[in-house]
Order: sequence, then C-alpha cells, then structure tokens
Amino acid sequence: MSTHAPAEPSRQTVDEPPNHPADQAKSPLPADGAAYWDAAAETFDDEPDHGLGDPAVRAAWAARLRGWLPSGPADVLDLGCGTGSLARLAAEQGHRLTGLDRSPRMIARARAKLAGRDATFLVGDAAEPPVGERRFDVVLVRHVLWALPDPPAALRRWAGLLAPGGRLVLVEGRWGEADPIGIPAAELTALVRPLAAHTYVEELSHDPVLWGKEVSDERYALIADLPVRRP
Ligand SMILES: C[S@@+](CC[C@H](N)C(=O)[O-])C[C@H]1O[C@@H](n2cnc3c(N)ncnc32)[C@H](O)[C@@H]1O
Repeated sequence: MSTHAPAEPSRQTVDEPPNHPADQAKSPLPADGAAYWDAAAETFDDEPDHGLGDPAVRAAWAARLRGWLPSGPADVLDLGCGTGSLARLAAEQGHRLTGLDRSPRMIARARAKLAGRDATFLVGDAAEPPVGERRFDVVLVRHVLWALPDPPAALRRWAGLLAPGGRLVLVEGRWGEADPIGIPAAELTALVRPLAAHTYVEELSHDPVLWGKEVSDERYALIADLPVRRP
C-alpha cells in the first residue's frame, strides 16, 4: 500500500497515525467520508499501487489477480473500488465487473477507466452493497475492510453475496511501524475462517514491484473459498 493507505479519512496526512474507527474517540473522523475520498480522487492514481500506471507494477498486480480469480469469465464485485484500477485489470482478464464505492468522484473515474468494458459501477456503502438478489463468483476488496465500522459484520454480508463455491479476495495489511494501523493477517484469518471451507494467505510485503518500492510492514491477500454447498 502506498502512503495513501487509509480506507477511511484522516484529518492528518496519511503518513500520520491511525484513523481506524477504533480510534475515533482519540481522533474523530470527519462526518462525511465520501467527501474525503471525493477530494482524494483526482490525485489518487498518482501512487504506483493505485493508478498502476507503471507497466511493471501493473503486470505484478495482474499476475496476482490471475492467481486469485477464476480462470474462466466470472462475476466479480469490487467493493470500495476507488478509481477502478484493479477492476480494470480483472476486466482485461475477461471478468464481468461490478464496482462499488461511496465516493461519486471515485466512481466517475472508475467508469471512465472501464469505458467500453463489461463493467457496472454503483455509489453505495461497501458494508451493505445495494445489489439486491445478485450473487457473485468473487468479492474483491483491497484496502477497505480494515476501516469499516464492523469488519465481522461486513465479512458475513459479503460471504452472503457469493454464489456457492465463491471466493473472497481480501487485500489488506498492517501499515506503519511505530503506531501501525490495519488488520494483521492472523486476525483477519480468524474472522474469515468460520465462513469459509478453505483459506490461505499470500504474503505481499516481499514483492516491492507491487508497491513501487521496498516495504517492511505487513501486506497480504487473504483468499477464502466458500463451501460449494451452504451448510
Ligand atoms: C484506500 S482506497 C482503495 C481503493 C481501491 N480498492 C484500490 O485498492 O485502489 C479506499 C476506497 O474505499 C472507499 N470506501 C471507504 N469506505 C467505504 C464504504 N463504507 N463503502 C464504500 N466505499 C468505501 C473510498 O471511497 C476509497 O475509494
């Protein structure tokens, strides 16, 4: 993750300590997170791992996605999709994309980025995606879950949006050294395991190409496959 790590707004620069909801008493969030992300949308893609403008960074994420997503065309729901950089990679791999973000400006950028592709974008809350009865093969979420008010509830909701045998792809981390923010892989695994038939964690810190630089904090993808039939 770049220096623009938080999935929730901070009054401080993003290199500053936490803006995790658990810290709200210490550091109250601005009332309207969408306004924060609307303001960030214009420059969001400047970070190498956001815009994926560098061919090497883009290729590194494309290779990871290829390993995480089904080999055939799949219905992928990208929650907190931001400007749609990962969604575009997934669409380029033949998948049908639904992207959702609560920031209208992020969504406008994502729509422009995926113009002409099999992709739909919605403005809404990732914790309660307004997708009706639709079910997906994959729910993909990068750098969003950790800052939601109730991650366990969001995970249960997302698992319910998957078709039997579907897959959660959660790209998360624990950023910073002195006062880290985020969810450690072990903690997220413990939250996801009761929902899944199988989980594994892919370590992402040791691949500097993904981030456009060397990183030393914890970054990972947690892949969780749901039971083929619900218990
Ligand atoms: C750090 S950015 C990550 C964007 C994208 N997933 C990526 O990896 O490039 C966090 C995104 O999550 C969105 N977001 C934060 N909280 C959200 C919520 N409750 N519902 C929907 N989107 C949310 C923000 O608007 C922002 O676009």
